[in-house]
Amino acid sequence: MRKKVTIPELLEKKRKGEKIVMITSYDYPMTQIVNEAEIDIILVGDSLAMVVQGRESTVPVTMEEMIYHCKCVMRGNTSAFVVGDMPFLSYEVSPEEAVRNAGRIMKEGGVDAVKLEGGVRVADRVEAIVKAGIPVMGHIGLTPQSVSLLGGFRVQGKDIDSAKRIIEDAIALEQAGVFAIVLECVPSGVAEIITKKVSVPTIGIGAGPHCDGQVLVLHDLLGLFKRFRPKFVKSYIDLYEVILKALTEYREEVKSGVFPSAEHSFSMNEEVLKALKEEYLGS
Ligand code: KIV
Repeated sequence: MRKKVTIPELLEKKRKGEKIVMITSYDYPMTQIVNEAEIDIILVGDSLAMVVQGRESTVPVTMEEMIYHCKCVMRGNTSAFVVGDMPFLSYEVSPEEAVRNAGRIMKEGGVDAVKLEGGVRVADRVEAIVKAGIPVMGHIGLTPQSVSLLGGFRVQGKDIDSAKRIIEDAIALEQAGVFAIVLECVPSGVAEIITKKVSVPTIGIGAGPHCDGQVLVLHDLLGLFKRFRPKFVKSYIDLYEVILKALTEYREEVKSGVFPSAEHSFSMNEEVLKALKEEYLGS
């Protein structure tokens, strides 16, 4: 079985130019498959609010819900490095509250690190969490928890000022002590500059080919989330159609009596059955 992935190994991958592979997972069975596929990092993302809970955005998800999903993932995990997302408003108010909540996700959820959104504006909270001994992954560019403020799910950093702000965010996060940074929905060129500028791995999602690694939302990759599909998503299978076909076949077989057949049924002694029928059915 593969050894557990560690932060020094992730840093070494950046140094050697080996790509880091990350995917979201939210439950036990999927995590088992993710492990067998030898994915480096699992993110228990707050995207679960949209792809698992059916909510409009990631904003409403709670600490308790995140911890619940972290626990489910950890029961299926053997070797991936697991990061738990800090939900909206669990780290904004003060460094003390940020440390307390990051600690809960790590202690109760059992994960290896936490992720939070923002750059310069959250650097003091990142620093406090790291000082408490909890590894932090940053997340800049399109930060879905601030989707209202950003005016929707759209590419960030296209003009010189906003590109500079994202680069400064990355530098602030590196200085605050993150071990990696997610770059979401930024032009490839901006991601390339950040990847060259900072010493920690960059993990892209809609950030082009120059990042040190890549992350996708599992349900997007598997074709299970149909509500909308960002340009940067590549679906490797249409599992929605596969599951729909299986369920339709099941419905038809139950209705027509094809399932369950003798193959999926239990038999008993013929004499005992005859006696039971005579007593209860009179035949
Ligand atoms: O919650 C999530 O799935 C994420 C990824 C999009 C990086 O933050």
